[in-house]
Amino acid sequence: MKKSILITGGAGFIGSHVVKLFVLKYPDYKIVNLDTLTYAGNLENLKEVESSSNYFFEKVNIQDAQALNSIFQKHGITDVIHLAAESHVDRSITDPLAFVMTNVIGTVNLLNVAKEFWKAKLDKHLFYHVSTDEVYGSLHDGGFFLETTPYDPQSPYSASKASSDHFVRAYANTYGMKTVVSNCSNNYGPNHFPEKLIPLCINNIKNNKPLPVYGKGENVRDWLFVKDHARAIDTVFHQGIVGETYNIGGFNEWKNIDIVRLLCQKMDEKLGREPGTSEKLITFVKDRAGHDLRYAIDATKIKEELGWEPSLQFEEGIEITIDWYLNNQEWLDHVTSGTYQDYYKEHYES
Ligand code: NAD
Ligand code: TYD
Repeated sequence: MKKSILITGGAGFIGSHVVKLFVLKYPDYKIVNLDTLTYAGNLENLKEVESSSNYFFEKVNIQDAQALNSIFQKHGITDVIHLAAESHVDRSITDPLAFVMTNVIGTVNLLNVAKEFWKAKLDKHLFYHVSTDEVYGSLHDGGFFLETTPYDPQSPYSASKASSDHFVRAYANTYGMKTVVSNCSNNYGPNHFPEKLIPLCINNIKNNKPLPVYGKGENVRDWLFVKDHARAIDTVFHQGIVGETYNIGGFNEWKNIDIVRLLCQKMDEKLGREPGTSEKLITFVKDRAGHDLRYAIDATKIKEELGWEPSLQFEEGIEITIDWYLNNQEWLDHVTSGTYQDYYKEHYES
């Protein structure tokens, strides 16, 4: 095997797309998916690759340094792509400490174990940290996030991700680790846990449930199809310059209310409902505390220096996404009923 890559958080939304891409595209790499399987981790996301000979799964918490160390030894890990994280802003508002434990402590644990395991030739191994554009804070009057935009995190989630980004860069500066960081905008697509805006609305429209729009729905996000993010991670992993940061985005800004209306309109068509039926489900609710107004990425650097750009237009991506949810009722039933969590308990803890 040419490389033995540890992908953390590989059972989650983005991680599972990254694992699938790497397992299928690089049969001569060993891909080790390390995930503790929180509510957001789901091995059903990986059915396409679970029996591939270059794919391995390890149920480990990144807060457990000893267990991480054994995995590095067992698989001879040569590189890390780190995605494991608590990722939902609303949950970070109710339980910030969980975000510190995984996103900060977990990342530092992983850095320590990698540094120790690779100490004989630190310069031969890459630690790739996957982060978010939310570390830059909130845009109020135009402009875009550049790689040079000062960090200004506003939620416990973004503060924990910003902290982890700082640690990764500090390990590069202090110990000479080879690192790269990418900061991406909001992702959408298949396998997205239905607590985030787009999958939540698709699921609720389907089930005729209210669509909770925070505040006036004026907040703006820049949406990127998840497989395009996975392609970008592949590009940065293989071509990114060590020590650099790359912003990844969709050049695709939408106000929340417009996204929700678009979903209503498309789903009315697909479900054979009268036009305007699903819009009646829109319910304006209390705003999120400290709600960031606008995120918008300038992804010129990755485009010009590494040749990556989104492959899909939003219209196409959202069609694929809605169709995926309509055709994967079983997946939705499992993640909303918690059946898969009971299964993991039985399978891994008995
Ligand atoms: P997700 O919540 O869907 O998945 C996270 C995965 O990490 C899950 O499989 C979970 O089980 C695992 N995990 C959580 N805590 C763990 C721990 N302590 N030890 C081991 N595994 C653990 O998240 P996602 O949306 O796929 O995001 C993946 C990464 O990409 C995160 O680092 C996130 O900050 C970043 N990101 C996400 C977005 C987005 O729009 N979703 C955008 C930019 C960056
Ligand atoms: P979300 O999908 O949670 O991603 P993030 O907070 O990381 O951007 O939310 C996207 C936007 O949608 C954000 O502005 C909050 C808003 N939102 C709602 O209006 N209603 C909802 O039920 C959710 C989950 C989010």
